[in-house]
Amino acid sequence: MDVPRQPVTQRQIAEHVQRLAELHPPIPLDSVDRTVHDPARVAARFGYIIDYLARVELEVDRNVVELLRLLPDVDETNKTFYADVWYPQEIQHGLILDRLQTDLGRPAAEPHLDVAVSIRVLGALAHLAPIQEVARLLYLLTGASTERQAVLAYNQLHGGLQEMGETAIATTIIRPIKQQEPGHFAFYQMSATAMLQDKVLRPWQLFLARVLRERTYNVVGTNGLPRYKTAMGRVAIDLGIDADVASYAREIGRVESRLLWAGRQGMECPPYIVAALRESIESYRERAARGLQAA
Ligand SMILES: [Fe+2]
Ligand SMILES: [Fe+2]
Repeated sequence: MDVPRQPVTQRQIAEHVQRLAELHPPIPLDSVDRTVHDPARVAARFGYIIDYLARVELEVDRNVVELLRLLPDVDETNKTFYADVWYPQEIQHGLILDRLQTDLGRPAAEPHLDVAVSIRVLGALAHLAPIQEVARLLYLLTGASTERQAVLAYNQLHGGLQEMGETAIATTIIRPIKQQEPGHFAFYQMSATAMLQDKVLRPWQLFLARVLRERTYNVVGTNGLPRYKTAMGRVAIDLGIDADVASYAREIGRVESRLLWAGRQGMECPPYIVAALRESIESYRERAARGLQAA
């Protein structure tokens, strides 16, 4: 249930960004204790998830290019967020996880750095202010959903590694990473909330945002491409998401349910998120049944 919320001010958002910059410097590579007691066991249980997360974190390089295409007129707060907080943190997550992958005897990540056609098209139209506003809302909703997925994955990974007695990597790799993700989520959530509450978008723009969101929703890291959707299916199974897809979809779709679909019956859990998750899981199962490797 939604509690009534205080309006979010631009000042609060700016202060939040400032706080993140001060409290969460990027994690230095040499701060990490790379001791792994049983690499084969960790790889068997979590290797696939770590590979996936490493790749997605390293794709921040592409995310910045997308951001600049979609939001050419990005304001100071947003600029500070992506340039001074988000990018430097995420790239370290990627580099640290990538090294962990190779420590576990797995191949290094190969981030997908091509900007999608859909982003290029929207980006080409984004010099029109009303379209850029739509793009901005979609960008923020994607950020909120993505960061929430990161928080949930790192929480599970942290708990699982602790349980296995792999305290060094749990405590010096996964814990510091997982502590940085909620601040990113909060930034996107606050920014999207402010846009709706300040009625930045007119009804036709909101309509367009809903249509585009339904048609272009991607689970984190799938990049709209079959091979990554299949890979995500395996990750979803390893994380146990397949046992209750609807609850997970509700978790990662909460911000858009509230902001984009408020007041619509049955939109507590956006059906396009459930569909995207199911598609990934089915795709992996189908390949596994044929005895093929995912991605
Ligand atoms: Fe991250
Ligand atoms: Fe993040």
